[in-house]
Amino acid sequence: MSEHEHRMEKIVSLAKRRGFIFPGSEIYGGLAGIWDYGPLGSELKFNYKQAWWDFMVRRRENIFGFEASIVMNPKVWEASGHTAAFSDPLVECKVCHERLRADQDEEIKAHEVAHRAAGEEASWTEPKQFNLLVEAKLGAVEGAKTSVYLRGEITQGVHVNFKNILDSLHPKIPFGVAQIGKAFRNEITPGNFTYRMREFEQMELQWYVRPDETEAMAAFDFWKQERMKWYLLLGFNPNKLRFREHGPDERAHYARAACDIEYETPFGWKEAEGIHHRGDWDLARHAKFSGQDLSYFDAETNERFIPWVIETSVGVERTLMYLLLDAYHEEDDRVVLKLHPKLAPYTVAVFPLLRNKPDLVKKAEGIYRGLKKHFPVAWDDRGNIGKRYYSQDEIGTPWCVTVDFQTLEDDTVTVRDRDSMKQERVPVLELDQCLHEKLTAFPAR
Ligand code: GAP
Repeated sequence: MSEHEHRMEKIVSLAKRRGFIFPGSEIYGGLAGIWDYGPLGSELKFNYKQAWWDFMVRRRENIFGFEASIVMNPKVWEASGHTAAFSDPLVECKVCHERLRADQDEEIKAHEVAHRAAGEEASWTEPKQFNLLVEAKLGAVEGAKTSVYLRGEITQGVHVNFKNILDSLHPKIPFGVAQIGKAFRNEITPGNFTYRMREFEQMELQWYVRPDETEAMAAFDFWKQERMKWYLLLGFNPNKLRFREHGPDERAHYARAACDIEYETPFGWKEAEGIHHRGDWDLARHAKFSGQDLSYFDAETNERFIPWVIETSVGVERTLMYLLLDAYHEEDDRVVLKLHPKLAPYTVAVFPLLRNKPDLVKKAEGIYRGLKKHFPVAWDDRGNIGKRYYSQDEIGTPWCVTVDFQTLEDDTVTVRDRDSMKQERVPVLELDQCLHEKLTAFPAR
């Protein structure tokens, strides 16, 4: 196993062992491309989505939140072009009938090598386009059930509500609508942990601009930079991030220009997020298919037009996996997840030095309950202090508070820092303030 593969294995194992990410429906043998988020993973995911929401919506004046349904009228997907064009080329191995994506050279090669090792020669069927939309049946009466799709991207829910948004909010162009939610894709080869899933979450901004190429490209460049800034604020290693512009032949059916932010994973440079210039594709198509007027009237210039859209779209689970890979460090005999303190599942852990000294335990419990009013707090009284520190390091808890015999005398505690491992003595009365200050020293929110 290469060192890179080994790193990936360590992340998968830590994620399972410490309650971040579990294979979906594991006791029934799992389900390909489906993962569940455990007690720590769900906290991390929540914090991650909140950081995005704060950065993209709350801090800005002209971006509004939205939450559309997963299931929409099936006509939405005809209009959006997904029933016709949302597909990947699929080939089937004639020897074992496994199906792979024809455009994934590494997987094809690995499959051929495996057959060759068994003395066989893989050969492939001609590529066929395979639609990625997941179908479901809706309705109470058998026979009268309607076929629907689970949304393949969260985008369309915003565009089909464009008129509602204009009528209720009267936003001034340019403006944005942001959304976080589940999307579903019948991926041919789900894999690489949470890199390619069949059920996942997306965080997207639809930014509406005037139909003007100069304005649209200025917005495209602006959002590219803003999105890169976000990863850097979260503490990602800048050397592992890059932009990659799409050539005309690799753009999605709706895109006039597209650029990915990529991350260097143990399995190569891979997409983290897409920034797309969607032109008037979505609104014009929905106007045509629904027969509704989806134009915008600009009272300042007295013009009526269909706006163009610049989109930023990121997968939650995929980039959370990148975040774990990036944060994972082995230092001497400890493993430490150097997560941004605002993302870590617990901000602080509280320990009584000894679990069999009731005075220490009582004091520590009081501090624990007090801190819990303001922060996510862990409690640990097992084993020795060194082991407890290492256990919190491994899940990324930035600070640990130890209640010891001195605490009973002078009402101070030890605060230990995850990254520097330095300890300082802090009065219990100042603990809240001290942790707030440490948190605000980090700029992500
Ligand atoms: N609305 C545009 C759109 O959906 P996309 O490039 O297909 O664009 C955007 O997807 C992001 O969603 C990707 O950059 C990736 O982070 C995430 N994503 C896409 N397919 C995924 C999958 N099968 N598993 C996990 N994340 C996925």
